Amino acid sequence: MTQDQLKQAVARAALHYVVDDEIIGVGTGSTANFFIEELGKIRARIKGAVASSEATAQRLRAAGIRVFDLNAVDSMPVYIDGADEITRSGAMIKGGGAALTREKIVASVAQKFICIADSSKLVERLGAFALPVEVLPMAQNAVMRQLRALGGQPRLRLGADGSALITDNGGQIIDVAGLQIAQPAQLEQQINAIAGVICVGLFAQRGADVCLLGAAAGVQTLTFK
Ligand code: 5RP
Repeated sequence: MTQDQLKQAVARAALHYVVDDEIIGVGTGSTANFFIEELGKIRARIKGAVASSEATAQRLRAAGIRVFDLNAVDSMPVYIDGADEITRSGAMIKGGGAALTREKIVASVAQKFICIADSSKLVERLGAFALPVEVLPMAQNAVMRQLRALGGQPRLRLGADGSALITDNGGQIIDVAGLQIAQPAQLEQQINAIAGVICVGLFAQRGADVCLLGAAAGVQTLTFK
């Protein structure tokens, strides 16, 4: 099976967690895109969705799904999204698609976080994938110095045109390589506390509740809480 087929399989399996007549939170990235395709097929069963990025909002609308502003939603039963890495306790690195801040905000309003990923994302320890940190552009160098002091090797993420990539929020992304993340929740708190940081792509204080992991043998369900 190809990686895309594994992503498609977990996207299909995630439909099991969709609650009828409710609003669902939807993540960003290639796995989330497969989920949007599946969600489009059952769109009559849901009220609509809250998107974690402009790209996801566009895809949801194209699939015929009504997109709600998060400010119009008090709570939602589930948030479904991919991850760049996930541990056996449900802590994740996210932000490969530069949508980490909105992903964390939408996830915080959901009762359950369902992570959908192919099995290559399961790791013993987070950190082989460079940790994305969204920052205010004026704080880029100041934050990089602090990230170096934490033992990381920070690098500004560039867009297709070679200049700094700008997020949906007007921020920039610093990717931090070389971190051995033994205590993800603690590091999440520490990096979030650096002046100029909008959001760090560690999802540990509020990790996943369930992970649907796609492997050649089938979709495995990991339950964390
Ligand atoms: C976007 C994310 C994605 O969930 C993460 O990058 C995984 O992406 P993909 O499903 O394409 O592997 O955090 O900001």
